[in-house]
Amino acid sequence: MIEVSSLAKEYGPIRALQGVSFSVSRGEVVGFLGPNGAGKTTCMKIITGFIAATSGTATVDGKDVVTDGVDVRRRIGYLPENAPLYSDMTVSEYLAFVAGVRGVPKDAIAKRINDVAMTVGLLNVLGQEIGTLSKGYRQRAGLAQAMIHDPEILILDEPTSGLDPNQIVEIRELIRTIGKDRTVILSTHNLPEVTATCNRIIIIHRGRIVADGTPDQIRGKHGGGNTFVVELARRDGIDRAPSVLAGLAAVRQVLPIERAEAPAGAAATATFRIDAAGDADVRADVFDACVKSGWTLVELKRERLDLESIFQRLTLA
Ligand SMILES: Nc1ncnc2c1ncn2[C@@H]1O[C@H](COP(=O)(O)OP(=O)(O)O)[C@@H](O)[C@H]1O
Ligand SMILES: [Mg+2]
Repeated sequence: MIEVSSLAKEYGPIRALQGVSFSVSRGEVVGFLGPNGAGKTTCMKIITGFIAATSGTATVDGKDVVTDGVDVRRRIGYLPENAPLYSDMTVSEYLAFVAGVRGVPKDAIAKRINDVAMTVGLLNVLGQEIGTLSKGYRQRAGLAQAMIHDPEILILDEPTSGLDPNQIVEIRELIRTIGKDRTVILSTHNLPEVTATCNRIIIIHRGRIVADGTPDQIRGKHGGGNTFVVELARRDGIDRAPSVLAGLAAVRQVLPIERAEAPAGAAATATFRIDAAGDADVRADVFDACVKSGWTLVELKRERLDLESIFQRLTLA
């Protein structure tokens, strides 16, 4: 549904995007995650046709965002970072104004306002001036304006920044609801935001995409998925464990892990870290080796970095 291909954007000497490519299918809720200055806002502005790329293309349903800009903008709802709202208009005046600008037929506007206000929880403040709303309600008004022309795609740039923890929970809940029947790209510098609302994460750093996939896929690819930790009860013959384990197919190396002595009465154990080649899963072979050698297998697990550590590692350099 959205195809972004080799996008580059330069602001004078600043290279904000350097060859960004990804695609988003209908119905996906994608988190565009990256530290401040990574290029998220620049990318959203190009997809929504607000600024032009230096090179590369973006299409929505096969239509180019530049040459078919009007058509593309009809399909997209956009909540900019720091959405400008007209503070002296009432919520319903504002939504009627935006609906008119976006080409909603005059006789359909009242119903659209009502439907959208219901979706985002604005019904009880429709007559209130925007300037008098709490920040959480102002952000709901921002979401409402993005959805007023009933677009298939929503692009939300840091939708919860500046909100308090309760408002954050409410807006995330709202985004999950909205995402059930729309395609959503949500940008944020905040990992919990993505894990709370999205089924796919694209990580961007210094204008380049450094990871793209479901949380599980990213953990598998970038989380040291080929490291295993095995803990064996100490018994006769355990001294051979490192060489036996190192002799298994796909095992690259076996390292003893320092361990405190077992408390009195408990059996002492030996713990090893096993590095496997590629993305091989050596757990079945390790288990068989234990059975054959007569060792008691106390624990065997794949060691993975959590997403927070992966995000840090990918975006620190
Ligand atoms: N209008 C602009 N003029 C000059 N530099 C800009 C402009 N907009 C963004 N930048 C720079 O481009 C880079 C990416 O910015 P941005 O897309 O806003 O990142 P993000 O939204 O991920 O924080 C940053 O280094 C930023 O300072
Ligand atoms: Mg930004």
